[in-house]
Amino acid sequence: MNAVQIFDTTLRDGEQAPGYSMNLDEKVRMALQLEALGVDVMEAGFAVASPGDFASVKAVADTVKASSVCSLSRALEKDIDASVAAIRGAARPRIHTFLATSDIHLRYKLRISRADCLRRIRHAVAYARNLCGDVEFSAEDASRTDVDFLCKAFDAAIASGATVVNIPDTVGYSTPDEFGALVAAVMNRVKGIESVTVSTHCHDDLGLAVANSLAGVSAGARQVECTICGIGERAGNAALEEVVMGLRTRRDAYGGLSTRIRTEEIARTAHLLSTITGVRIAPGKAVVGANAFAHESGIHQHGVLSKAETYEIMTPESVGMKKTELVLGKHSGQHALETRLKDLGYDLDAPRLAEVFAAFKALADRKKQITDRDLAALAESRVAARHVGPQEWRLDSFVVNSGNHMSATAQITLVKGKRSVQDAAIGTGPIYAAFRAVEKIIRHRFTLEDYRIEAVTERRDALGEVLVKISDAKGSYRGRGVSTDVIEGSILALLVAVNRMLEAKR
Ligand code: KIV
Ligand code: ZN
Repeated sequence: MNAVQIFDTTLRDGEQAPGYSMNLDEKVRMALQLEALGVDVMEAGFAVASPGDFASVKAVADTVKASSVCSLSRALEKDIDASVAAIRGAARPRIHTFLATSDIHLRYKLRISRADCLRRIRHAVAYARNLCGDVEFSAEDASRTDVDFLCKAFDAAIASGATVVNIPDTVGYSTPDEFGALVAAVMNRVKGIESVTVSTHCHDDLGLAVANSLAGVSAGARQVECTICGIGERAGNAALEEVVMGLRTRRDAYGGLSTRIRTEEIARTAHLLSTITGVRIAPGKAVVGANAFAHESGIHQHGVLSKAETYEIMTPESVGMKKTELVLGKHSGQHALETRLKDLGYDLDAPRLAEVFAAFKALADRKKQITDRDLAALAESRVAARHVGPQEWRLDSFVVNSGNHMSATAQITLVKGKRSVQDAAIGTGPIYAAFRAVEKIIRHRFTLEDYRIEAVTERRDALGEVLVKISDAKGSYRGRGVSTDVIEGSILALLVAVNRMLEAKR
């Protein structure tokens, strides 16, 4: 097979990373973008874990058409049943079942013998295969499993109907040479291996996840499990964009193998993940970081201007980092805005476009040059706040007063439907006071878990982008707000989070 299948687990292994949890709508949005990116398989979650996880897996399965959708299950009938029920609506359903095979896991975690382990694998895979035509079996902690036993485990899985066998380096312990040799051993010794797809699933504890995955491909693996920006448990998983661009840029080194990924969608996908989760992409992140194609030194700039290949091994355009000379300002019309937003990956419906256009005009009055990053921030804040309806609070007006020899005060008026409520509060600073005033108006207490503010662009008149995370007894909720006024941006971000919190209560 000349193609390497890309199995994305951003919504499952990625979401397990602290700070990356997503709600149902966010998962569906992310899944649609993963489909546009062209992933062969996406792991939508772990259906049995909770009713919320089940609902998200189901929503993704019911929505996505072009990619296979799978749900993780332990090697237990009840897990497999939950997965089957959740992915029933998928165009291409897959069950992913796993059991640890290393002695350390068998002895201390599962407390079962190797013989029991083989029995469980046979039973779980056969049970799943009876319910679904595509069944993946993962030998958890494969890289620390005795190779002879690992081969027996895969023999058992294949004989019971597995269509894919996955070799996880669960704790990120392997080196590229070792991992390549392990995949080669599986390829050479497991019965019936030629009739199934062999897969890698590498974690990044030693920073080797991508190198190990590529070594696995060189040894014969034809599926790579990975996540956008490498998010995942602990230090994360192999980064999809690095695996894909590694294979594409160094086709010569990887025997001409290719993937079906639409690489021009890579940057948009990474930015969407960052927007949804509120976690910024590190500037030096390979392939998608802001500096990935920035050439600072004079020698490099000169070289790139003469011939890009002197210092660029791939083009920014090939991963969807579009640059534009088009400058939008206060005289630009809605059509120009719409065209630019489409180039940036935002295809908004008419009401949302009208909202962004109004925000754009208001911004153009305060700021001379509106950049792509400003536009993306405006669009994102509107997309993130898309649930605002008659049941939700909106900002009408605010006044804050603060100074170095006084307590800060904030007076805020919020509107809900036709009702307008005003209250005031004092605090140690203007944001604190404003948040207290909001809390008094909505009559629901919350804890501020995280507050971050960043300038969207470099200049003094930059938009400030505020990310807020609050929690109550039921869960935690994020909000994002943008404004040239950081206090307004903060209140807008808080209201997005507050509306989500109150919606969860209803
Ligand atoms: O890291 C791991 O072993 C896993 C398995 C469930 C595939 O995530
Ligand atoms: Zn994992």
